[in-house]
Amino acid sequence: MGKVVIIGQGYVGLPLAIRAVEAGDDVVGLDTDTDRVKALGAGLSFVEDVSDERLMRALETGRYRTSDDYADAAGFDTCAITVPTPLTDGVPDISHIEQAALQIAVHLRRGCTVILESTTYPGTTEEVLRPLLENTSGLDAPADFFIGYSPERIDPGNPTWHLENTPKLVSGIDPGSLAATMAFYQRFVERLVPVSAPRTAELTKLFENTFRHINIALVNELAIVANKLGVDVREAIGAAATKPFGFMAFDPGPGVGGHCLPIDPSYLSWQVKREVGQRFRFIELANDVNEGMPRYVVQRIAAGLNTRYKPVNGSRILLLGLAYKSNVGDLRESPARAVAELLVDLGADVRAVEPHASPRDTGMLGGVTLVDLTVAEIRAADAVVLLTDHDDFDYPLIEAEARYIFDTRNRCHGGVVELL
Ligand SMILES: NC(=O)c1ccc[n+]([C@@H]2O[C@H](COP(=O)([O-])OP(=O)(O)OC[C@H]3O[C@@H](n4cnc5c(N)ncnc54)[C@H](O)[C@@H]3O)[C@@H](O)[C@H]2O)c1
Repeated sequence: MGKVVIIGQGYVGLPLAIRAVEAGDDVVGLDTDTDRVKALGAGLSFVEDVSDERLMRALETGRYRTSDDYADAAGFDTCAITVPTPLTDGVPDISHIEQAALQIAVHLRRGCTVILESTTYPGTTEEVLRPLLENTSGLDAPADFFIGYSPERIDPGNPTWHLENTPKLVSGIDPGSLAATMAFYQRFVERLVPVSAPRTAELTKLFENTFRHINIALVNELAIVANKLGVDVREAIGAAATKPFGFMAFDPGPGVGGHCLPIDPSYLSWQVKREVGQRFRFIELANDVNEGMPRYVVQRIAAGLNTRYKPVNGSRILLLGLAYKSNVGDLRESPARAVAELLVDLGADVRAVEPHASPRDTGMLGGVTLVDLTVAEIRAADAVVLLTDHDDFDYPLIEAEARYIFDTRNRCHGGVVELL
């Protein structure tokens, strides 16, 4: 493939860059975050799916280097854009894609390929990326260069499904662009799934995450009503899951977090409203339910403390896990952080155990003291709240020492445990 540039060296871009190096490519990992560029260049990975050893091996080939300077993209053959697509003031913010497009466009050459991987609303590749690349470079796609869209499906920390064995959607603005996009990935992804146009691939990615978001909202609401009905929601879900067709089990929890579920569905509802003039009501409802979960968790903790003659104000509360899901250190949009903030606001003395968080992320935790999981911390807590069920927590120790456990993940057992 010759020279490859991966723009953005985050949760998506770093594993992709390393995989491309392993497949024999010469890769430049571009990122505007100078600290990240330096750390990666020194062999320090912050992504669970890429160990420091694997990163080091890639660096030692001499075919992987990190840079914060777009000049290092000169002469590239294939470029993949993996920059963030957040919501800003509740609306899609594709400014990172626009910036990346403008900066890479000056290095476009005849025959090269640009592939967008960031999650985004239908139309971005053809109506935003394409004109930016063409107008800045003076070249025409697909006559002079190719444009593809291939959304990332990576699930950070998943030990089974990773880049190589997760089927990857691919699309192009024309058959030549699709062929160029497939040629790039087929050397290191087992199965490619071509779809007819970037719009379809963009919509499919949003549909996948919206499906999950809505189903989680459904079981979360079910958990709330089942608690009031006096029914064990997990038993009901487990029983329903014995049906061999037409049912898929999802687990209730303290809300949704990370870079995908709280954000991607709103990209879809925003675009539907803008382009079709219609509300996507399922998405609005799911947002409403999932965003309300941290407050519900705090209400349940307050009720649990109340039965023990304790107000939240002044109580010592030990939160276990702040990341948005188990076995990762990503605190972005984590509902656990929302729970922590609400408890701090109510005057609780909040301590938290998060062995996976990086020091730069823990700076986001106002009012929360980070501690290690010790017998003394567990014993001193009026309530121990399991928010993220990391595998490396010592559950028998927690169960043996805690006075009261509120478990949002169905991981703890014993008489002092109350489940979400
Ligand atoms: N994290 C996931 O699990 C996941 C899964 C599937 C898809 N996605 C999507 O992939 C995209 C990237 O997500 P991520 O989690 O890797 O984000 P990230 O924040 O981990 O990494 C993105 C990187 O891009 C860099 N960046 C921003 N603007 C840049 C620019 N103009 N030029 C160069 N670098 C720039 C940032 O500094 C950052 O290091 C998003 O659209 C996201 O929705 C994420």
